[in-house]
Amino acid sequence: MTTRRQVLKGMGLGAAAVSAPIAGTAEAAPSEAIGSSWTRIEGKDKLRGRARYTADIPVEGMAHGALVTSTITRGLISGIDASATLASPGVIGVLDHRNAPRLNPQAGSPFFGPDGQFLLLQNDVIEHGGWPVALVVAETPEQARAGAERLRVSYVEQPHDIGFSAGHPLLRPALPSFGPDANKGDLDAELAQSAVTVDERYFTPPESACAMEPHAATVWLENGKIRAYDTNQAPFGVAQVLSVLFDKPLTDVRVEAEQLGGGFGGKTGVGPQLILATMAAMIFSRPVRVALTREEVFLTTSARAATEQRVRLGVDRDGRLRAIGHEAAFELSVKAEYIENCVEVAKVLYAADAIRTRINVVPLHILPPNSLRAPGTAPGSFALESAMDELAERLRIDPLDLRRRNEPEVGPVSGHPFTSRNFLRCVEEGARRFGWAGRDHRPRQRREGHLLIGTGMAGTSFLTTAFPSSATITAEPDGTFTVAIAAMDIGTGARTALTAISADVLRVDRSRIRLRIGDSALGPAWGAGGSLGTTSWSWAISSAAEELLTKLESKPSLPVSVTSDTTNEIFSLPPRERHAYSAIFAEVAVDPATGEVRVRRLVGRFAVGRVVNPLMVRSQLVGGMIMGLSMALHEQVVRDEVTGRQVNADFAGYHFAANADVPFIDADVVADYEPDNPLGLKGPGEIGTVAVAAAVANAVWHATGKRQRRLPITLDRVIEG
Ligand code: MOS
Repeated sequence: MTTRRQVLKGMGLGAAAVSAPIAGTAEAAPSEAIGSSWTRIEGKDKLRGRARYTADIPVEGMAHGALVTSTITRGLISGIDASATLASPGVIGVLDHRNAPRLNPQAGSPFFGPDGQFLLLQNDVIEHGGWPVALVVAETPEQARAGAERLRVSYVEQPHDIGFSAGHPLLRPALPSFGPDANKGDLDAELAQSAVTVDERYFTPPESACAMEPHAATVWLENGKIRAYDTNQAPFGVAQVLSVLFDKPLTDVRVEAEQLGGGFGGKTGVGPQLILATMAAMIFSRPVRVALTREEVFLTTSARAATEQRVRLGVDRDGRLRAIGHEAAFELSVKAEYIENCVEVAKVLYAADAIRTRINVVPLHILPPNSLRAPGTAPGSFALESAMDELAERLRIDPLDLRRRNEPEVGPVSGHPFTSRNFLRCVEEGARRFGWAGRDHRPRQRREGHLLIGTGMAGTSFLTTAFPSSATITAEPDGTFTVAIAAMDIGTGARTALTAISADVLRVDRSRIRLRIGDSALGPAWGAGGSLGTTSWSWAISSAAEELLTKLESKPSLPVSVTSDTTNEIFSLPPRERHAYSAIFAEVAVDPATGEVRVRRLVGRFAVGRVVNPLMVRSQLVGGMIMGLSMALHEQVVRDEVTGRQVNADFAGYHFAANADVPFIDADVVADYEPDNPLGLKGPGEIGTVAVAAAVANAVWHATGKRQRRLPITLDRVIEG
């Protein structure tokens, strides 16, 4: 372990590490696999178009399904006239609530319980716009689409409510799935005794994940068993839910994918494409592929919930926090529970005498919200870190000093020790790289011609842990090792990272590793979610490797296999505060006449544990920061109050940051190591996104003197008359 820790030291990810020739390749010493900037194993296949995504894999005799989605937001289906559809060329049949297989209403997620979003085509009830009401199955995708356009669905409309606000009469507490509200100390008393306070409200809109690859599934039945290729982040978890939905034993369901073109949370669970394709394969006794259009991805998969958050802070004259109050409300659908857990950071990031958090929901007639990169944490830290900047402004101190003065020694609410806390290291190293020293903290002091220039910063923590998984490693007679785990590479480079990890823990060159992933049949495993894929999968792989190496000492005849299960180890970890950390620094130029905000520079420093692959970790962090920039300035799902439908369900109307929006980005890690993970790992997947929106909003205030408490910071919100 000592040598590995030494390798970790000085592992900067800066420009040098990326532009230098890629270290490693075949000559690398086996023990140095982790830490090498190998390019993606499947990179050449992707460049040449040979890598197979779900909708690239044909299945013999396959038919195609096209969705018909509800044009009303709430009401009942009063009739479906399929005559024109059935007369349309190539159409095999129509699936709707009258002939679809019955589903088990208990199917849901372990965190939020039964999920009504899965219960497609079960009745005539419509509770949000875009709800699938039928699937038209035909010989070709074009014939299916043409048939779908000819389906006549009539409705009886009922009034809908999509108007979210924290003052809504239906406001109620969220499920307590992620731990209780914080109730430390007496918030009101501490606020009353504070020298300076902040009490402000912050607003974030619904957002869509917008993975480049639209959702698709191909399903066929093999001796009564469900076989599927499907775009998802968690093949085992998806197979589990599918088996409950269709009342099959888990052994009768197998879900696979070779490549995934992004997920960002939008593919964490069972999507409509998979449920509908499974139903159609059963009813029409044919393999059926359902590939969603971009509009259907927006209307039928999931979105980040809109939030309204109230943050109250109180400090002594010297900048020591006495009070942190964070109350969040978010929108929920009437169909399913979910938690946009905005308030978690407030329990972790700063010491304070009193900390109180609340989290409430408003159920509405909207697409059920679900995870989107850094769920909860991204909107939550926008509110908390904007409020911290407002506090520094009112105290007239450096925002960095406010962080330095409130560094906790133990978990501020839990009292548990931190396993490794390098938040201030991120802040200091980021500030040095950015050139923060000497900043005039008063707003509206810098101009370049007609442009107003400002800088801002924000930071965050992001929970890290691991989830139980199992891996099977086989020592083959030819000297290679087959490593099998139901992991998914959603484009992050997980396949490459797990190969390096396998080589290290088996102490062989990576050319001797054969990795199998992307298949639910490989056993229980956590998915690519929560930034906990690699921490969870590598634990299972290292645990199996250890046992296999011991077994091999007795020179057994090959092949020999070992299967690990990390459930006991992970669930017996003592209670501790385990987090990754970040500090983000932004420089913006604002045109006060047009309201245009251009982000000129972004610097991020991250404590994300030991780095498995510097090249890919940097890609994750830069990509995450771009997503945060996009959240700050561009992204929002816009719904029409009258029809209830999303009006920008395409890439023309839903803008996210494109190349021209993205400035120079400097992302790097600070030295960090997670002692409660066998390989020292934390997750670098989501933390890149988290604090960026607040850093940009704080920079816009510094440039203009006007606070931006509502995302995205569009031109109309900035423009000066
Ligand atoms: Mo995620 S939003 O953990 O896929």
